[in-house]
Amino acid sequence: MREAFATAFGAEPDGIWSAPGRVNLIGEHTDYNGGLALPFGIDRRTRVAVRLRDDDVVRVATDSAQAHADEGGGIVTATLATAGEATGWSRYLLGVVHVLRRELGIGGTGFDALVWSDVPVGVGVSSSAALESAALVALDELWQLGIERTEMVRLGQLVENEVVGAPTGTLDQSAVLLAQRDHAVLLDFRAETAEQVPLGFEAAGLEILVIDSLVRHDHATGGYGDRRRECEEAARIAGVTTLREIAVDEIESWADRMPPHVHRRLRHIVTDTDRAARVAALVREGRPRDIGPILTDGHVSQRDDFEDSVPAIDAAVDAAVTVGALGARLTGGGFGGAAIALVDASESARIGAAVADAVVAAGHARPVVFAVQASQGARRDPEA
Ligand code: GLA
Repeated sequence: MREAFATAFGAEPDGIWSAPGRVNLIGEHTDYNGGLALPFGIDRRTRVAVRLRDDDVVRVATDSAQAHADEGGGIVTATLATAGEATGWSRYLLGVVHVLRRELGIGGTGFDALVWSDVPVGVGVSSSAALESAALVALDELWQLGIERTEMVRLGQLVENEVVGAPTGTLDQSAVLLAQRDHAVLLDFRAETAEQVPLGFEAAGLEILVIDSLVRHDHATGGYGDRRRECEEAARIAGVTTLREIAVDEIESWADRMPPHVHRRLRHIVTDTDRAARVAALVREGRPRDIGPILTDGHVSQRDDFEDSVPAIDAAVDAAVTVGALGARLTGGGFGGAAIALVDASESARIGAAVADAVVAAGHARPVVFAVQASQGARRDPEA
């Protein structure tokens, strides 16, 4: 990366910072409903090499063939003041500059940055949060800002909400900024707490497969905003601030008092927070194998109640469970993206191939399947 940086900008970078993508094990769309979620950082990272300049120019480039090929290469040039006007992939990085300056009134001099990533884009594994968070930790250090991680979470969310225009919550940035190796993070969006939960997958001989459906989503324009409004409608009718206040045994009492589709959204949110709590408890007890059926229940809830799955992902989940996965579900914001499957590591290759074949046989594109390990959150990369 140092060489690529020197080729692009004619000098050595001051350092390289990186952040992982994330997989959400369970607890979907709970973040903007005050619920629980249990994500982990994955061993696919976005790296940003940065060198400060002594003027107010900002130049960003990517040599990431995989991640941003569709938007072409080349150097994007802006100034500190125009960073908020960025479009395309660079707005996730330049949006950070804009938000820091506008929200906190802080910043430093301009910089050159080179981005490289092997976090797939549009898959539901938070490539955008990875880029925002890598940029945040880089600029925090280079501009000597001393921003807390929890504050970085909020700033990353602002980039999504205000620069990108996606009305998302804080799940992705929390996962990417707080992740630790071999751990998931139990996020409580009402209490605003984050607890590290040792996963123990490796010791138990387990692995998570990501099954990318190749169906792409866009949370700025897709159904994400509709779901968010439906959840707000459910909360308004139920007279609660967030759906977290509704207990599992109260769900059915609301059935006749709201439109059926709104009630289904409520049922998904309330039961998925319950599932996240149960999965976290089982993992803590050293029983990671036993979470499989809960993951699959979560998928049924997303498919039938939240209605944010797509046929190619339903086919992948069905196939995974049929050919021997312990559990499987849609992960991330939905309307495309990927499924995850919990599998015995020794069976991983066989299951991955069988799922891909079954999805093709069901009439969908051949999914891209890869295994992930729980990895470290955003950080400065050690120099080689
Ligand atoms: C996307 C959003 C998150 C969260 C998930 C669904 O990843 O960015 O804030 O709402 O969808 O759990």
